[in-house]
Amino acid sequence: MNQIIEKIAETAGFLEEKGFTGASTAIVLGTGLGTFIDRVEVLRQIPYNDIPHFPVSTVESHKGKLSLAKINDKKILIMQGRFHYYEGYSMQQITFPVRVFKKLGVTSLLLSNAAGGMNPEYKKGDLVLLTDHINLQPENPLRGVHDAALGPRFPNMSEPYDIRLNKLFIKTALELSVPLKQGIYVAVPGPNLETRAEYRFLRVIGADMVGMSTVPEVIVANQIGLQCAAVSVITDECDPDNLQPVKIEEIISVAAKADQKLSTVFKMVIEQL
Ligand code: HPA
Repeated sequence: MNQIIEKIAETAGFLEEKGFTGASTAIVLGTGLGTFIDRVEVLRQIPYNDIPHFPVSTVESHKGKLSLAKINDKKILIMQGRFHYYEGYSMQQITFPVRVFKKLGVTSLLLSNAAGGMNPEYKKGDLVLLTDHINLQPENPLRGVHDAALGPRFPNMSEPYDIRLNKLFIKTALELSVPLKQGIYVAVPGPNLETRAEYRFLRVIGADMVGMSTVPEVIVANQIGLQCAAVSVITDECDPDNLQPVKIEEIISVAAKADQKLSTVFKMVIEQL
């Protein structure tokens, strides 16, 4: 049997034995976006280090825990901290948890991330729903020997973010009076932020915001048939004609401030799934 398929089965089996069962939604919390966990009833929790074949999170701002939680009667899986390409992981490692979620019976994947806003209408702290993306990260997670058991060789990406889920996000944000913009995310390898010329280029090719995550997970989710939705928190304003130096500390603090409204939206969306 293909090695990755064996690993997925082993990890899913391990998590099932630990009681991580019954969730149909998984949610990945991005940089500085951890307080969602405080709004749910946590049933089980395990550090990534203790999960076989899971990569270990190295970024300080990420807590690196998988939780099974409950919202009303709905069970969800929560990844607090994700794996980034710039940390040195392969794209297969980064997306491994998504494959495990599918094996555990998950059908919807919700993601959040911190991103730089290039659309001049975006301000720090804005929430932006991804309508599409541009992938500029190297090393595709689907590259390599193909096993049909993983899904199609050439997955369709005509609608990477589920329209029905996106409508639910828009409706929910409106009901909560939380402003939610819509835009196109471009994924870059990082870890450096962009030069002025690069922001100009990324804007010209059609992106509204830029970040270093999310797209690998979304590619794999589309291959295996998980419905996806993702929301960016705009942590810095990337105007090439007036570019201010940003520090990662500031990015994290802006994300933390927007976290409350994002968590409220996520929670209410999940209640309606
Ligand atoms: N560029 C890339 N990634 C980011 C940024 C940015 O400006 N802000 C937050 N994540």
